[in-house]
Amino acid sequence: MEQVTYHVQEIANGIWAIDEFSMVYCYVLEGSKSAAVLDAGTGVSDLKSVVDSLVSKPYTVLATHAHMDHVGGIGQFHELHIHSADIPCFEFPEQMNPVSTFKRRQICERAIAAYGDALPFDPDNLEPVDLSQITCLPFEDGAVFDLGGRTLEAIHIPGHTKGSCCFLVREDRVLFAGDNFGLALILPLGGSDRERIQAWLEGAEKLSRRSGEFDLICAGHYCPLERSWFTDMLSCARKAAAGELAPQLWEADEMRGPMYHDGSVGIAIDPENVRNRDFRRIRQLRRY
Ligand SMILES: [Fe+2]
Repeated sequence: MEQVTYHVQEIANGIWAIDEFSMVYCYVLEGSKSAAVLDAGTGVSDLKSVVDSLVSKPYTVLATHAHMDHVGGIGQFHELHIHSADIPCFEFPEQMNPVSTFKRRQICERAIAAYGDALPFDPDNLEPVDLSQITCLPFEDGAVFDLGGRTLEAIHIPGHTKGSCCFLVREDRVLFAGDNFGLALILPLGGSDRERIQAWLEGAEKLSRRSGEFDLICAGHYCPLERSWFTDMLSCARKAAAGELAPQLWEADEMRGPMYHDGSVGIAIDPENVRNRDFRRIRQLRRY
């Protein structure tokens, strides 16, 4: 396996953010009894060694959702806890399966296109994931993972994927948002625009009612995530679901599709935005 250096930052006492080369953030949390890895990354290098260097306790691997940049690295571990609604993703054909070398390579190549030779890995060296060696353990909304003095509570917000979740760590007042919040929220599941946004909003409103329980938000692609993006995304979804926003065609390089804008954020609907995702453009969303 290719050995490269990850950038690791301790964001709170016993909580680390591991930056997988601007593609995604994985997080490690340590309690008094055990630890947790939150998202396994794309699997471009030896993430497990990084985790093992941070914690000596037994640890559980959790995923916010079944996308290639969040579960593609699961081959380095034996078990994955993920919401039950995302378990069927692992049965998808090669071109859609989040752990396939095809999908993982796709996001690596987009990262290289965005960041060039600064990225210290070669997509040709991706190790295939053997799902027969991994036990997927489903959880449901409200599941609590107790690490000892530190708990992760799963809050299900379907929309980005069927099983997408946030994790609330009440003891530290930290929310791990996955891809449910950011500058751009991508809702690729079926239905009309308003149906998709309404479905996401039902889950997100559960979280909104608990927004007094966290101060810091750490997301899959932003660490930390600006609080205003969290409130703007809720506002954008409420207005779009009420028919108060008109979509704009958002077109930039490979990426195109209807986008609802409010404040500093946008909600992208068209599946093309997932297939042709280019996060250089997501990062530039602020300009809209
Ligand atoms: Fe995602």
